[in-house]
Amino acid sequence: MESNHPQLIDQYHRRLNYLRLSITDRCNLNCLYCTPAGVTSKLRHEDILTYEEIFRLARIVVGLGIEKIRLTGGEPLIRKGIYDFLPRLAALPGLKDISLTTNGIFLKENTKRIRASGIKRINVSLDTLRPDIYEKITGYDGFQQVWEGIELARELGFQPIKINMVPILGINDDEILDFARLSVVYPYHIRFIEYMPIGADPDDPLSYVANSLIKEQLTSLGKLVPVPKTAYEGPAERFKIEGASGEIGFISPMTNHFCRVCNRLRLTASGRLRPCLLSNKHTDLKGPMRSGASDSELARIFLNAALNKPYAHQLTSENTSRVSAHMSSIGG
Ligand code: GTP
Ligand code: 5AD
Repeated sequence: MESNHPQLIDQYHRRLNYLRLSITDRCNLNCLYCTPAGVTSKLRHEDILTYEEIFRLARIVVGLGIEKIRLTGGEPLIRKGIYDFLPRLAALPGLKDISLTTNGIFLKENTKRIRASGIKRINVSLDTLRPDIYEKITGYDGFQQVWEGIELARELGFQPIKINMVPILGINDDEILDFARLSVVYPYHIRFIEYMPIGADPDDPLSYVANSLIKEQLTSLGKLVPVPKTAYEGPAERFKIEGASGEIGFISPMTNHFCRVCNRLRLTASGRLRPCLLSNKHTDLKGPMRSGASDSELARIFLNAALNKPYAHQLTSENTSRVSAHMSSIGG
């Protein structure tokens, strides 16, 4: 797609235009796969970027070539003040796509405010359609709440609504067809994500399900028709079951690395820029900012870190321990 926007292109010719912005490391759930050791980190209040600081960085990086921002957490909807921040961020000149990823617990009561702030699409994490399994995975009896939030979001016109499902062997992998069927009836984009053993110890009891196996299973529901990607897309490979109103997406970090086309950067709630989800390498932006760095100095630090994004990650089923942080604090 042609654009007059500045472009941020790294040494491997990847156009980095997508920033995942984690606004809090806290989460109201404790999902098996997100915090595998069962502990969540808690940054001190003063160590978290203020909304002013986040906004300033967002403005700077949009000026450098970032076109898409996704708010993540922890759980973004639990941070106080988010509903004042969202419309400001959404109105940032030059920003072409803004969305958020939520666990959906606080979705229903805030759907209208999210919509009014200018956000048109959302991604919701939901790994099971069975309330008892939901509680087993997340530690909280919240299935109904999340489901009602998703339905209200659909009624209010969010489009697309992407539902992220992480199948784990022996826990929810028997629900794959049920999830896929949802995409036939509803306009949802159901995405199967291979579990990444981030922050897990070497005898991690959780096993991922390869998306190639899921694809095979889904053929029993009909032909999987490929859907072309649009300009600001993440890593999902998209399909539609013939005749369905929604879509199926496959995100396969374990069996099909998408590093070669990875277009994203991450800013943690504590102001660290992580150019790769699966590497501990990071650059601090909060320190310089709080020591009085100018916009152009911050831009230089950002560019230096971004343009040195590693080529590829090393995560495989045998190699789990390279990333010491948890998904919950990086924001997925
Ligand atoms: P859109 O396509 O814009 O809707 O967003 P997205 O799929 O990038 O966002 P979402 O927050 O829904 O992420 C979906 C899943 O993809 C999460 O489980 C992430 O952990 C995974 N994921 C996102 N980015 C990366 C990445 O850079 N590397 C790897 N390995 N996994 C990623
Ligand atoms: N592996 C794969 N996906 C994960 N997510 C969180 N932890 C993991 C993991 N270890 C997903 C959640 C959420 C998204 C932001 O990240 O399902 O939808």
